[in-house]
Amino acid sequence: KIDKSGMIEAIKNMPEHFEEAKRLTEEFMKGIRIRNILNVVITGLGGSAIGGDLVRMFIAPKATIPVIVNRDYFLPAFADQNTLVIVSSYSGNTEETLSAYDDARLKGSRLIAITTGGKLKEKALEDGIPVLTIPPGLSPRAALGYSFIPLLIIIERLGIIPGGVSREIEDAIKIMKEARERFSPEVPEAENPAKGLARQFHKKLPIIYGSSGTTEIIAMRWKGQINENSKAPAYFNIFPELNHNEIVGWDGPKEILKGFQVVILRDEGDYERVQKRIEITREIINDKGGEVLEVWSEGGTCLARMFYLIMLGDFASVYLAALYKKDPTPVNLIDLLKKRLS
Ligand code: F6R
Repeated sequence: KIDKSGMIEAIKNMPEHFEEAKRLTEEFMKGIRIRNILNVVITGLGGSAIGGDLVRMFIAPKATIPVIVNRDYFLPAFADQNTLVIVSSYSGNTEETLSAYDDARLKGSRLIAITTGGKLKEKALEDGIPVLTIPPGLSPRAALGYSFIPLLIIIERLGIIPGGVSREIEDAIKIMKEARERFSPEVPEAENPAKGLARQFHKKLPIIYGSSGTTEIIAMRWKGQINENSKAPAYFNIFPELNHNEIVGWDGPKEILKGFQVVILRDEGDYERVQKRIEITREIINDKGGEVLEVWSEGGTCLARMFYLIMLGDFASVYLAALYKKDPTPVNLIDLLKKRLS
């Protein structure tokens, strides 16, 4: 009943998307020769951009050159012929991304396009730009495996991080396969953490707190998945920054605060001072009458822990859609906005 439009199926298939994306990218990289790159700009929007953010966060401790994510019509001024611009658009038709592609051409940057087709593929083929073609037929946000894995492998193969991401990818696939069993619709609510979370979020404003460098992009993903799949507002913020502004808001009117459900994403990789900040923040919010849940990541490697939490949030967002009696797949308001823009 929940899966009329196939969103649960698409989420469940994320491990297979990883495997297929790895195969496609390894094949693609055989034909790529790119040297003398001083920085990388990944440009895209929404479901296509978040794969870039996850890569940026994951490689930050070991990247030898700057890698940034751009979500705009234009590239930053530093982009030049020593910049590799990776243009990522699942549909290949996103206005801002096509404009950033044109800007990269004007600036003489090196380019790679990742897409299923659309205008981006047409333009790139015409301009002789390498295109990594990924399989069509998914919602862009459900194609995270295809927006994340290619970027990670491209960055590794270009020598921007030390070689060897295969083991991490294997571990992530393994933990996602376990997670999809635990969170699947057949598992009853009492034993299913994803259904439990949906219940906690129901009729509340979900506020997801992550931490810089570990769970920040996962918090952003949970928020986006609740918005797009559950058709509900949600909000996220990041430690330690939120300790310097947002925390003061918990001194606000009780009648507003009681409509919030805070979830703090926790990871063993968080810096000890951040862990302490999280614990104190939790106490303060509780003292102010706020509802706080903690969700710990599971899995051995950093990548596995990230994708365990992503799976949990993705499943929870579809169960929340069911509670709100919404179809998780259509994004009517994005479509309406695009129509009004055209
Ligand atoms: C829809 C979704 C959106 C799109 C965004 C950009 O499922 O997740 O956030 O990803 O509108 O579109 P693409 O990815 O086709 O460039």
